[in-house]
Amino acid sequence: MQTQRAPADFLAARVRDLAPSPTIGVSDRARALRAEGVDVIDLGGGDPDFITPQHIRDAAAAAMHAGETHYVASNGTPAFRAAIADKLRSDNGIEVDPKDGIIVTPGAKAALFEAILALVEPGVDVVVLDPAWVSYVPMIEMAGGRGVRVELDPDDNFRITHDQLSAAMTPATRAILVNSPNNPTGRVLNRDELDAIAAVAQEHDLLVYTDEMYEKIVYDGNQHLSLAALPGMAERTLTFNGLSKAYAMTGWRLGYVAGPASYVKQIAKVHSHSVTCATSFAQAGGVAALTGPQEFIDEMVIAWDRRRRAVAAGLSAINGITCPLVEGAFYAFADVRETGQSSIELADLLLREAHVAVTPGIAFGEAGEGHIRLSFATADDVLERAVERIANLLGRLEGAAPAPHADPSATLRAEIRTV
Ligand SMILES: Cc1ncc(COP(=O)(O)O)c(C=O)c1O
Repeated sequence: MQTQRAPADFLAARVRDLAPSPTIGVSDRARALRAEGVDVIDLGGGDPDFITPQHIRDAAAAAMHAGETHYVASNGTPAFRAAIADKLRSDNGIEVDPKDGIIVTPGAKAALFEAILALVEPGVDVVVLDPAWVSYVPMIEMAGGRGVRVELDPDDNFRITHDQLSAAMTPATRAILVNSPNNPTGRVLNRDELDAIAAVAQEHDLLVYTDEMYEKIVYDGNQHLSLAALPGMAERTLTFNGLSKAYAMTGWRLGYVAGPASYVKQIAKVHSHSVTCATSFAQAGGVAALTGPQEFIDEMVIAWDRRRRAVAAGLSAINGITCPLVEGAFYAFADVRETGQSSIELADLLLREAHVAVTPGIAFGEAGEGHIRLSFATADDVLERAVERIANLLGRLEGAAPAPHADPSATLRAEIRTV
């Protein structure tokens, strides 16, 4: 008789060896504790605490009431693609063909995944700047490629240089993946850094995938610049963006990839065979978001700026923590090296003892170790309480015998085992 297969025998290796998203994992743990009645403050996620503006909700509701409940063009409604092309021209200085150069996807995450599946295969290396958003390397690996991490130096403000990038090149390198404003470091790449990326891409004949999800969320006069707008870059750059963060539309699932038709038309094949199209009436909301009043974004950024300062000041006042003011996005990336704990140990301790959920920096790669990421896209008083809880706990531990946190929970370890 044949021996029975275990469930793992049925799994594809690309999934068997894949860890779930650690940021979603942190939120799931926080939710589970909450279900047990624990008052947990979840700073693990990346969801703006604002509701989508009324005029956007009205536009989607009107479309639904008008019967726009059918499949739409696979790459997006003509109206939404036109609005995206206009936005890319006026905000970013990027010219794309709205017909063949844009695909509307259910969130930028889907756009990234579809593009990577279309462009990466076994034997292909993609350079990823570490610390990096948690899903890039798993996506590259699912496509069969290799994410080659370039570890940036926290003591040099995670700066990117031409030398570092050049040193990471292999004969198999096909692309560099860039994210600015960055999740988790908050870095907004300056012109020198963008020029370095563009130069290396041109010297080594590479594509650039640029994730500009947080472009509207910048502070202190920092300016977001798009790589595709740099000389010689339009033909080798795919720009990824979406409405989740700037328009507080995470639940709508609207994102896009834009770039040269020669690549986008190929990615469209993956899109049409997997997703078909993004939700019809959501795209009507997307048109309203891009073409309607934009003041709402400034109001959110003013609130996040205030919270950014409060969290940085509060955390920096705690012994062992240094929390610089980030340049963009809505995460504090606190340096906790002086606490003597690893980022997992500290994140685990904060969740168990202070009931504050944060993401350990190691989840974003080796260069993120020694840091924890806290979302400040949440109410001022909640943030105040979170910082207070962290300060109380670490204050209590100071000078006390080492807490029993050397063995972080297996769950958390499993969540980040591949990073
Ligand atoms: C850097 C970055 N890129 C892409 C995404 C995906 O956004 P969405 O799929 O909601 O458009 C996120 C979400 O957290 C992100 O932080």
